[in-house]
Amino acid sequence: MSSLLHQRTSIHNPFTNQFPFSPPSSTNSMKRISIFSPITLLVLLSLIVVFGVFSPWVDIPPGIFSASEPAISKWRHYTLAQALPFVANNGTVIVCILSQPYLAFLNNWLISITRQNRQDMVLVIAEDYATLYKVNERWPGHAVLIPPVLDGEAAHKFGSLGFFNFTARRPRHLLQILELGYNVMYNDVDMVWLADPFPYLEGNHDVYFTDDMTTIKPLNHSHNLPPPGKKGRPYICSCMLFLRSTDGAKLVMKKWIEELQLQPWSRTKKSNDQPAFNWALMKAAKEVDLYLLPQAAFPTGGLYFKNKTWVKETKGKHVIIHNNYIIGFEKKTKRFRDFGLWLLDDHAVESPLGRL
Ligand SMILES: *[C@@H]1O[C@H](CO)[C@@H](O)[C@H](O)[C@H]1NC(C)=O
Ligand SMILES: *[C@@H]1O[C@H](CO)[C@@H](O)[C@H](O)[C@H]1NC(C)=O
Ligand SMILES: *[C@@H]1O[C@H](CO)[C@@H](O)[C@H](O)[C@H]1NC(C)=O
Ligand SMILES: *[C@@H]1O[C@H](CO)[C@@H](O)[C@H](O)[C@H]1NC(C)=O
Repeated sequence: MSSLLHQRTSIHNPFTNQFPFSPPSSTNSMKRISIFSPITLLVLLSLIVVFGVFSPWVDIPPGIFSASEPAISKWRHYTLAQALPFVANNGTVIVCILSQPYLAFLNNWLISITRQNRQDMVLVIAEDYATLYKVNERWPGHAVLIPPVLDGEAAHKFGSLGFFNFTARRPRHLLQILELGYNVMYNDVDMVWLADPFPYLEGNHDVYFTDDMTTIKPLNHSHNLPPPGKKGRPYICSCMLFLRSTDGAKLVMKKWIEELQLQPWSRTKKSNDQPAFNWALMKAAKEVDLYLLPQAAFPTGGLYFKNKTWVKETKGKHVIIHNNYIIGFEKKTKRFRDFGLWLLDDHAVESPLGRL
């Protein structure tokens, strides 16, 4: 009888055997009676609840969160397939991919999106647990982590699987979203929205993107993939993309992953996946419907922050500003401040995350 009870308990609660409160197989009748007293049952129930909640923590690296935040652990198993229907609007999501050092930029970007009333569609793909928990604690359901979390060392060893995962992360995450049937807008978080970009996604093309070249184009420029430059390929930015959940967009993501596998990796290039993206676009151009977004609306930072005359000429046409063509958090922050785009100083309350 008592061994039967033990067996059943083991089946229903795999943790039982690890803890001293599990009844030993030689349980005497006194103990058996005490097991069924209401207080013992209550205690056992609470222990099961407590360990059931705590158990996912077991293989998390220590020091990531404090014991005062037990509720957050439920996000550890929150999946992309659960997150997408939660945030999507009309089958479309807005996605960014980031780790903890970028949280301030995330918040700045979110304020600008909230001003366009598009914040509900935002899904943060967290690259570490700290980011996953921080965002979901403030804004439940809006961050997801797609395992595995990469260990920096493994990720940087050229030729290793970790290396492949590291470089191919962005197209892999985006491909997964497309495969699950959602359209996706991807943004780097060193961006600020000045207007809603969705009205600019004209027609029914597979992949929409922006040019990273600083050369000024006429306002009525072509929406085709620009011709190759000096390096034999165009200079399309992998920083801002809109992908429809079509075979064409999926093909571009697959080719991007392939190109990244062919590329030699170096510490100086870091996670620069843009050349591979451009090779992929060129190779897929015949089969896929591509669309270059207007330069005046989506200028590269190399143009917007460097040519006052152009900015004045195109006033009122700007939609998303990208703080690129500059390296380092401090320099980026200062430049956003100089141009009145560091919204975090005075408008943090507008972010769904609040002040971080
Ligand atoms: C919803 O998506 C469809 C197809 O992508 C589009 O035609 C329609 O305009 C969208 N509706 C809204 C309200 O955005
Ligand atoms: C690389 O990604 C694959 C697929 O997601 C995963 O199974 C594998 O464990 C990862 N390897 C490393 C070293 O990160
Ligand atoms: C843009 O407009 C100019 C004249 O205003 C015209 O010559 C040119 O062909 C147009 N370009 C495109 C791509 O439509
Ligand atoms: C800056 O923009 C103006 C106006 O479009 C243009 O005429 C000029 O050539 C640009 N300057 C540079 C350095 O690109």
